[in-house]
Amino acid sequence: MKYTLITGASGGIGEALARKLAARKHNLVLVARSAQKLAILSKELMEKYGMQAEFITADLTKPEACFQVFEETQRQNWEIEMLVNNAGVGSGGEFAALSLQSELDLLQLNNASLLAMTHLFLQPMRRRKSGTIINVASMASFIPVPYMATYAASKAFVRSFTEALTQECKPLNIRVMLFAPGLTRTNFNESAGINNEKGAGLSSDYQTAPTQTPQEVADELLKALDSKKQFHISGSRNRFGARLAALLPNSLITRFMARSYRKKLGYL
Ligand SMILES: NC(=O)c1ccc[n+]([C@@H]2O[C@H](COP(=O)([O-])OP(=O)(O)OC[C@H]3O[C@@H](n4cnc5c(N)ncnc54)[C@H](OP(=O)(O)O)[C@@H]3O)[C@@H](O)[C@H]2O)c1
Repeated sequence: MKYTLITGASGGIGEALARKLAARKHNLVLVARSAQKLAILSKELMEKYGMQAEFITADLTKPEACFQVFEETQRQNWEIEMLVNNAGVGSGGEFAALSLQSELDLLQLNNASLLAMTHLFLQPMRRRKSGTIINVASMASFIPVPYMATYAASKAFVRSFTEALTQECKPLNIRVMLFAPGLTRTNFNESAGINNEKGAGLSSDYQTAPTQTPQEVADELLKALDSKKQFHISGSRNRFGARLAALLPNSLITRFMARSYRKKLGYL
């Protein structure tokens, strides 16, 4: 049976996407750490939409977790026709003051596990000569972001990696799409510790800036998928912002952002 596997499906954008794909009768494999949330969601989706929803509990900051997820899908004979690498965390605050271990965990989740999942699930897709991979980046992938330096760099990796892979996979009849959300009202800030004392000033953006709901973001992702896009930025303001950022030198943008964040963080 064919499935769509979504990482980070227990909340936020991943959960919203799972709900919308379930309504389209996709069979789903939901992956995240919170077993209880995944169990409740998969049961609800199956009852409501009559499709198959499985779940695998995994902490993708553990290097071995991707292999375990892949092996479980093989053991269960779940054919993963579409992979959505959505799980990701942020971090905010002065880099030198952040925990080194949590920055390394961020890279493991946002980059190494995304790369490993892509590599593992590409193998059967290559043999079948069909499949779709969607990698979730961020507006932060377009510019270096002072006081969110590691997060922005991790998303720049996702963007560069995915855009290259899109072309490599074309002759294999495998679609690879890059999807970049902007500020979205999810649990992201809490998980990133942006609402704690180290990054508190950074979260005001979240409250005052224009944001999208996870449902709106999931709708945009599906629209981009349906119209066979290889790259989509969610939200018209974000698309405008990315075009504007491309015209300005990074040195100018980062200087301005660093100043404004320093003010918000109370460093100035
Ligand atoms: N929200 C925004 O403003 C925003 C903007 C741009 C891009 N994005 C990107 O969008 C994606 C989804 O973010 P979101 O806003 O939906 O965040 P969220 O509400 O915090 O959800 C993150 C999801 O990832 C899972 N996750 C976190 N750590 C994990 C781990 N170690 N192993 C496995 N799963 C893990 C979480 O589930 P568990 O806690 O159950 O593991 C949850 O399901 C991320 O890649 C993020 O970078 C978000």
